[in-house]
Parts: sequence; structure tokens; C-alpha cells
Amino acid sequence: MTTHRPAAVIVLAAGEGTRMKSAVPKVLHTIGGRSLLGHAIAAARGAGPQHLAVVVRHGRDLVAAHVTEVDPEALVADQDEVKGTGRAVECGLTCLPSDLTGTILVTYGDVPLLAAETLTSLVAAHEESGSAVSVITADLPDPTGYGRVLRDGDGAVAGIVEQKDATADQLAITEINSGIYAFDADRLRSALARVGTDNAQGEKYLTDVLAIARGDGCRVSAHLVDDLWQTEGVNDRVQLARLGAELNRRTVERWMREGVTVVDPATTWIDTDVSFGRDVTIHPGTQLHGATTIGDDVEIGPDTTLTDVEIRRGAHVIRTHGSLALIGEGASVGPFAYLRPGTELGPDGKIGTFVETKNAVIGEGAKVPHLTYAGDARIAEGANIGAGTIFANYDGQTKRTSTVGRYTFVGSGSVLVAPVHLADGTYVGAGSTVTLDTDPGELAVARGKQRNVEGWVARRFPGSATDEAAKAAGECAGAAEQDGIPEAAAPVDPADGGAARA
Ligand code: UD1
Ligand code: MG
Repeated sequence: MTTHRPAAVIVLAAGEGTRMKSAVPKVLHTIGGRSLLGHAIAAARGAGPQHLAVVVRHGRDLVAAHVTEVDPEALVADQDEVKGTGRAVECGLTCLPSDLTGTILVTYGDVPLLAAETLTSLVAAHEESGSAVSVITADLPDPTGYGRVLRDGDGAVAGIVEQKDATADQLAITEINSGIYAFDADRLRSALARVGTDNAQGEKYLTDVLAIARGDGCRVSAHLVDDLWQTEGVNDRVQLARLGAELNRRTVERWMREGVTVVDPATTWIDTDVSFGRDVTIHPGTQLHGATTIGDDVEIGPDTTLTDVEIRRGAHVIRTHGSLALIGEGASVGPFAYLRPGTELGPDGKIGTFVETKNAVIGEGAKVPHLTYAGDARIAEGANIGAGTIFANYDGQTKRTSTVGRYTFVGSGSVLVAPVHLADGTYVGAGSTVTLDTDPGELAVARGKQRNVEGWVARRFPGSATDEAAKAAGECAGAAEQDGIPEAAAPVDPADGGAARA
């Protein structure tokens, strides 16, 4: 099989998109984590052209910068004040070699579901049939607004008429022009030079090229597609959501076919650039955005939103919100965890319930299980951070980092005031506010010493329920003592490390 590579693709993206009612140029609105234009460029690039040009005008600088960001090789062509798709293509041609031969494709920057394979088969059919122009068409139950495809008595394509220029008979035609074409380069240049603006909109119509080519005795072909989504453009935010949902449906289905279990496709959102290993399970209400990558045997959700997160093999992430984080092999996160940028959880580590982390590197097997803020933290292998520990990283001026050494054990309810460095193999007594570094093997205790004031309740709140309870307990204790039952277990070590443990 011969491969058919187009000489160029020209992506039209100069239009204003007024119906979006947005300060943002239409083609920069996103679905599936990519701009509409990003999707169009990816499809165009997928067809393997020698040159790829994007025609810009509205929001010129923003759109041009975006083109360069998503595809640094792409050429940017500026459209002048002459309006119309024909003028746009003419402007696109100015940045291509003037003697370029072969096939030139034209696509739209606001048609995000068009697949590269569709372009590839258009080029193949176009070149094999020896056509001057081949246009992708679709049969729509409601063709309102689109250009209609005119066919002659033999069924050959004779031209395209715009809605605003059509007669009543022509308006009844349901075969529409998608706006996606393959042109022979020479024929395109020659015909465009003869396109005028004598029409209802006073624009230079690209569609006029078809009738001109026919008049020159050339073959013009139509390629009817069944998959209507591929030719649908975004004009307003209703269409943006509709096409976004369909794109997601396609993405989720593709990954299920690649071996990902998606419990509820309807509530699972996966961006175009997310990737998965095998035997991943996604529970309902999960949204995976950006450049998120998921390893084999990972379980995610329910109710989890991750952006640009890497999850390695066998990890579990439950009811979590995270971005720019790394979750190591076999690690566990959530429920109710908030992973902010710079979080790196080591293999078999744990970030548990109601834990917020930011710029926190947590070593292999280390655990931050409950109710903790770990900001600007380095927590080494095997360390255990007790419930309710706060890494106080900010003094109102500067953020500083604290470190916790290997197999160090921070008691519950502690505050580590940055910068503080706990050595390997140390303990922090529960409820400590730690401001001094430790040496290996030490216990740090930093809290007021407890004293018990006898008879205080009876003096302060006489006759209260608390007082009554105390008195009743006193009588019981007296009776128990007489029966030979010990009053209480041995008192707890006052310096008790006391981290809550799951
Ligand atoms: C155009 C076609 C119509 C077709 C429809 C499919 C023409 C004359 N008409 O109609 O037959 O059914 O697309 O959606 O071609 N653009 C520019 N510069 C311009 C004008 C448009 O770059 O001066 C770009 C727009 O950004 C957009 C695309 O071309 O991506 C189509 O423009 P739009 O105004 O939507 O085309 P229609 O008039 O709807
Ligand atoms: Mg128009």
C-alpha cells in the first residue's frame, strides 16, 4: 500500500467566534484537557504533512503563541482584513513554498473530533481518484446554516452553495459541506485567484473553488462520512459541552478496550493526554486531567480529581484531589487527601485521611496517616507522623523546610516549626511544639508539664453533673479498692510518644 502524505495542511483559525461570548478566542477553549485548536493541530499533524500552517487573525497574539506552544514546527499565517474562508486559505498559502505541489488539506481550528485517520483516507481517495478537489460531506437531518453540496444529473459534485445564497430548492438539500477538503496545490492556487466576493456575505468563499475547478474540466469528489461528530464545529458553549462529552465518551471507551476497568463511564472524565497501564480500576466520580500517567494495577476513586499526577504500579488513591504529584509503587492515598504540587510519596508510603501535602517528599514506607498538614517537608523512609501534626512552614514572610529522619516517630498533635530537623531514629512526644533539632536516638518533648489539681471541680462547679459524676466515681473507686480490684493501670510515661496509629 502506498502511503499518502499531504504536502501541507492549512488549519483555519482566524474567525471570531462571537457566539462563545468570551474574552478568550474560541479556538483556545478546551475540551478533554486540550484547546479546540490543539485537537485540530494534532489531527493535522497526524496526517503527516510536510508543512502545517495555522491561519490566525482574531486574538492573533494569543492564538499564535498557543500554536507555537503545542506544535513548535507549525507555521503561523496572518489573515488580512479581507474576509472569508477563501481568503484565509490564500493567506495560509503565503507561508508555504510558492511552487509546492501535491495535496493540500484544509481543516478548521474549531472542529475538535476530526481524526487523523479520516484525513489520511481523504488524501488516499483524493490522490487515487485524480481529483482536483475532494470535500468531506455529511448527510444531516437538519442542514440549517451549512453550505449545501450541489450535484449534477450524473451525481458528480458541481459546487457548494452557502445557506445565505441558496434558493428554496437548494435549501432542501441535506448533504452539507464539512469544510474539510483535499486540494491539488496548483489547482487550488489557480482557482483561488479567480474567486470573488459577489455573494450575500461579501466574503471570499473557499467553496467557490469547487465550481471553478469543475469549470476547468477537473474532477471534484465528495466523501460522505457517517461519523457526524468528526465534522461538527464548536460555535457556542452548548456545543462545547456536547462535543466535550462525546470526546470523553470516546476516550473512556478506548481505554476500556485497552484493559482499563471503568466502573461508571458516565461519571468518569479522562483527558486526551492521560495514559494507563493494564488492570487499572477507576471508580465512579473520577476525573483525570492533563499529563496524568497511571501505572499497572492501580485503583483510583471514587470521587477523585487528579491533574498532572503520576501514579505508579499497585497504588490506591481514594477520594483525593491532587495536582503535580507523584504517588509511588504500592502507596496508598486518602480518603479525603489533598495533594498539592511537589508532593512525592515513596513506595509503600501512606498519605491518609484529611491530610494536605505541598512540596512534601515522603520516603519509602513512611506514613502520614491522619489530619496533618505537611508543607515543605522532607520525611525519610519509615518515619511515622502522628495524627494532627502540623508542619508550620510559614512565618508570614518566608516558607522554610523541615526534615524528619529515617524511622523517626512524631507524636500526635505536634507542631514542627520550620526549619527544624529531626535526626534519624528519634521520637517527639505527643503535643510538642518543636523548635530545636534532635540528634539520633533522642526524645524531644516540648510542652507544659501536667499537674492535676485535686477537688477543683467540686470547688468551681459544686452540684454540677460533672461534680456528681466525680463523686459517684470516687465512691465506686473506694468500693472497688475494698474488693481488691486495682484502681488503675500503671501511669503512662509522661514523655509518651503517643502517636495515634491505625
Ligand atoms: C463554512 C463553509 C460552509 C460549511 C461550513 C462548515 C465557506 C464559504 N462556507 O461556513 O460551506 O458548511 O463552513 O462548518 O467556506 N475562518 C477564517 N477566516 C475567515 C472566515 C473563517 O479563518 O475569514 C475560519 C473560522 O475560524 C472557522 C472556519 O474558517 O474555523 C469556518 O468559518 P465559519 O465562519 O464558521 O464558516 P461558515 O460561514 O459557517
Ligand atoms: Mg462565516
